[in-house]
Amino acid sequence: MAVTRTFSIIKPDATRRNLTGAVTKMLEDAGLRVIASKRIQMTKEQAEGFYAVHKERPFFGDLVAFMTSGPVVVQALAGEDAVLRNRTIMGATNPADADDGTIRKTFAESIEANTVHGSDSDENAKIEIDFFFDENEIVG
Ligand code: TYD
Repeated sequence: MAVTRTFSIIKPDATRRNLTGAVTKMLEDAGLRVIASKRIQMTKEQAEGFYAVHKERPFFGDLVAFMTSGPVVVQALAGEDAVLRNRTIMGATNPADADDGTIRKTFAESIEANTVHGSDSDENAKIEIDFFFDENEIVG
C-alpha cells in the first residue's frame, strides 16, 4: 500500500491538559510518522478559513471560538493509507460514539472539544497541509 500524507491538529482541549505527547504516541503507535509539527495559537481568521466548509452550520461560531481558545499543534503525518489510518485511530466525531482504544474515546471531552482533527480525504489532506506548512518545513 502506498505511503500517503494526512493533516492532524491536536486541539486546545488536549494542549490544555498537556496531552500532546500522549496523543502523538497514539498516532505513532498506529503507524503514522510525524513529518512536520508546530505549536501555534490559531487566529480567528485562520480558524474561519480552515473550517470554511462548516460556515453555515449552527456550531461554526462556537467551533471557531474553541479552536482559538488556546494553543494547537498542527502536524503533517505520513503512513500507509494515512487518511484512513488516522481517521481510524481518531474515532468518531462524537466521543460517545467512538470505539474503545481511539484517541477521542480515550481523551475527548465533548463533540466540540474532541482532541484531534484529521483530514477526511487525500485531496483535503493536501489542501490542509498547504494551509499551515511550506513544503520546506516537511521532512519525510
Ligand atoms: P466534522 O468535519 O463533521 O467532524 P470530524 O472532525 O470528525 O471530521 O466536524 C468538524 C468539527 O466540528 C468537529 O471535529 C467538532 C465540530 N462539531 C461540533 O462542534 N458540533 C457538531 O455537531 C459537529 C458535527 C461538529
